[in-house]
Amino acid sequence: MAKLGFGGRSVLTRKSNESMRIIISTVIGIVLGYLIGISFPTVSITKLHFPSSIVSYIEDRNSGLTTQTLLNHAWDSANRNRNNSTSNTDDTPKIYVPTNPRGAERLPPCIVVPESDFYLRRLWGNPDEDLIVQQKYLVTFTVGYEQKNNIDAAVKKFSENFTILLFHYDGRTTEWDEFEWSKRAIHVSARKQTKWWYAKRFLHPDIVARYEYIFIWDEDLGLEHFDAEEYIKLVKKHGLEISQPGLEPNNGLTWQMTKRRGDHEVHKETEERPGWCADPHLPPCAAFVEIMATVFSRDAWRCVWHMIQNDLVHGWGLDFALRKCVEPAHEKIGVVDAQWIVHQVVPSLGNQGQAEKGKAPWEGVRERCRKEWAIFQTRMSDAEKAYYLSIGISPPNSTVT
Ligand SMILES: *[C@@H]1O[C@H](CO)[C@@H](O)[C@H](O)[C@H]1NC(C)=O
Ligand SMILES: *[C@@H]1O[C@H](CO)[C@@H](O)[C@H](O)[C@H]1NC(C)=O
Ligand SMILES: *[C@@H]1O[C@H](CO)[C@@H](O)[C@H](O)[C@H]1NC(C)=O
Ligand SMILES: *[C@@H]1O[C@H](CO)[C@@H](O)[C@H](O)[C@H]1NC(C)=O
Repeated sequence: MAKLGFGGRSVLTRKSNESMRIIISTVIGIVLGYLIGISFPTVSITKLHFPSSIVSYIEDRNSGLTTQTLLNHAWDSANRNRNNSTSNTDDTPKIYVPTNPRGAERLPPCIVVPESDFYLRRLWGNPDEDLIVQQKYLVTFTVGYEQKNNIDAAVKKFSENFTILLFHYDGRTTEWDEFEWSKRAIHVSARKQTKWWYAKRFLHPDIVARYEYIFIWDEDLGLEHFDAEEYIKLVKKHGLEISQPGLEPNNGLTWQMTKRRGDHEVHKETEERPGWCADPHLPPCAAFVEIMATVFSRDAWRCVWHMIQNDLVHGWGLDFALRKCVEPAHEKIGVVDAQWIVHQVVPSLGNQGQAEKGKAPWEGVRERCRKEWAIFQTRMSDAEKAYYLSIGISPPNSTVT
């Protein structure tokens, strides 16, 4: 549910009667336009022609005209028109454009808008003057209200060039309005869902096509030493399509790859424990970042979105597979050391699980994560095998890490 900004909702509620009438008028207008359109196709190709009496009816909500007289009037004029243009009904060639997006082939290409954005618009004025800034970057946080102070601090590290999108897993959205920035943020609320569940549903590549970089971040990150604009400069400079900020090694749990290095701007490979990396160009020694604070270029996200499975909501295993979306992965995936973060390891969504058979909620969640990881690996390797077989070559021995 995107929130309606500018207090629009209360205005609409107050005037619900009038709105209803506007809606009815509009529907009637559309129906009439259609009737006139089919009976007089030469006109419909350029512009829908409403008789002036209909236009003034639609505009004047207090008009005494009934629907019936209006329809009679429309039939009359439609018939009159047909009477005049008897022979040229079939002259107009039908529109069918196979290169249009699937399902939209009957539309003239110039009216097709295949992509969108999260820019908030006004309800008045000229549409082309609505936007003062068109943000080039998007940052999403998956949040619960308990982390509000952390998110408030984090959001302030992102300039006005970022669209802010919050995914709420606890159903609390209005409370965030205590923060000034919340009013220009987009709020999406669906209870107890994960970051990748939201990402799959609300960040379709065509919806976020206006954004050069997309940050898909957790809520428990400390951004004290991070500046988003500086981060983007480094990502561009080093050609990183998929990246994350270096992690301050505050506990022993992180991979070597994602640990911050004090003496680098960016690093793209590392050494892991002996035997962990069969190939120095493969995860977890290279071509690898974690999924807690990932940053995608527009093109990389277009690929990764397609790899996200609807049912595997925790995204485990995704980090090892990201490399399938960029080429060469060991050059285009990396860690930005100069802008780094702290992973605070707050068990947030983990605690939203369900206590079962004497196990704590987080245990069930963890178990599910592992299960999903195994399923994902199997699916990926089956998919690759199926592909190689379909083109008639035997699958390489191991394609999935
Ligand atoms: C409509 O068609 C009828 C018969 O074909 C004709 O008599 C009449 O004049 C036409 N009306 C107009 C407005 O052209
Ligand atoms: C129908 O034809 C008559 C006679 O040619 C013309 O005067 C009238 O404007 C036409 N009606 C429409 C709606 O085009
Ligand atoms: C936002 O982007 C514009 C255009 O790229 C840039 O000039 C400006 O410095 C950016 N804002 C900040 C706060 O960096
Ligand atoms: C791949 O598998 C085949 C047969 O199972 C084996 O002969 C070959 O050595 C394997 N190649 C690698 C690189 O493991």
